Amino acid sequence: MTTFAVAPGGPLHGRLRVPGDKSISHRVLLLAALADGISEVEGLSDGGDVAHTLAIIGALGAGVEVVDAGTVRIRGGRLGPADHPLYVGNSGTGIRLLVGLLAGLPFGSVLDGDASIRHRPMERVLAPLRAMGAAVSGVDGSTNAPLTIDGGGLSGIEYSPPVASAQVKGCVLFAGLSADGPTTVVESSPTRAHTEELMAASGIDVSVGPGRVTVHPGRPVPFGHRVAGDPSQAAFWAVAAAVVAGSEVVVENVYAGPGRTGFVEVLARMGADIGHAADTGDLTVRGSALTGTVVPTHEVPGLVDEVPVLAVAAACAEGETRFCGVGELRVKESDRLATIASELGAMGARVAVDGDDLVVVGGRLRGADVDSHHDHRVAMACAVAALVADGPTTVSGWDAVDTSYPAFGRDLDRLRP
Ligand code: S3P
Repeated sequence: MTTFAVAPGGPLHGRLRVPGDKSISHRVLLLAALADGISEVEGLSDGGDVAHTLAIIGALGAGVEVVDAGTVRIRGGRLGPADHPLYVGNSGTGIRLLVGLLAGLPFGSVLDGDASIRHRPMERVLAPLRAMGAAVSGVDGSTNAPLTIDGGGLSGIEYSPPVASAQVKGCVLFAGLSADGPTTVVESSPTRAHTEELMAASGIDVSVGPGRVTVHPGRPVPFGHRVAGDPSQAAFWAVAAAVVAGSEVVVENVYAGPGRTGFVEVLARMGADIGHAADTGDLTVRGSALTGTVVPTHEVPGLVDEVPVLAVAAACAEGETRFCGVGELRVKESDRLATIASELGAMGARVAVDGDDLVVVGGRLRGADVDSHHDHRVAMACAVAALVADGPTTVSGWDAVDTSYPAFGRDLDRLRP
């Protein structure tokens, strides 16, 4: 178990790039694996989650050539059974997208992950896949991983997920590529649009209407893709620059598409000096006084992964911030309602869980010994809080950060004088 020590300090200054977007990275790898020919991807996320997905497509028969850091060439189109269970590590996106893809392919597979993955809800993807005719099952008659898939023979369906989830949408659309007719996902709240955007860009017949996405069966054509910077990682620097007085940070080339940048609007509403340039994707943030806000339920899918670090912004703001309808945070890499409350609470933040709402009242933070609970975003949120605490903080379980942002510590050093 590794630890990370952060002492409070002066303003943050500089320009940096964050890892390639994790959600996009998983999806381009799956599409490249299905495409008959060579696809090239640049700027891939360098985190462990995406490395597991890359290894899995290789085990399924895709040719993988690592050209240099972040650039891979994938020869896809001829997938077949792996001779071992496919291990996704800590990645909920990995397992949920892969189970959809594999449910449509005419061979057997087993998908497994770490202790967290084995406890995360998979019913939300198994239910629509079974409605499509898939033979998918969890361990010992449950819906938990390891998941066993006997692929092939899917029918197209129209499906309305009971939870707003881009992972569920992505799972069903990947399965739809191998169904016998069109598959439609109907969403009551819009979620990140990467699956439909990337499928369309790789030649799949996808139609998008208000609240609906329909995919027609088919295979992508080989493509090239440059992955933009991950807004969910940029959010840590955005909050860090906003709360440390005198800071000015530019995060370059941050993805600015739908369903990902809700945190920019929330920080702006709190009084942050923040701008996201539409042409370059550069996100510029300067330190400023923040005030509390209400984040209504309908905004949550657009910032669901940013709540831990937005809670840090709220802990540094004047007054109360309420994140409404964030019950989904209970089933992320950790129970984030509990872990945000306990770890930021240990640092002196006033955090309460009120039903499915998270309520944070601003005040002073103190340095403390905190724990990641094996959750990368909790670990990094605590590191950002530590920048403005009275006294040093140590985050244990820091290795969780390797799943998405191995260079976080180095980037923090670069921004500090
Ligand atoms: C993701 C969707 C979100 C998010 C996760 C990545 C994706 O999960 O929390 O980190 O890439 O589709 P849900 O779709 O379950 O909300």
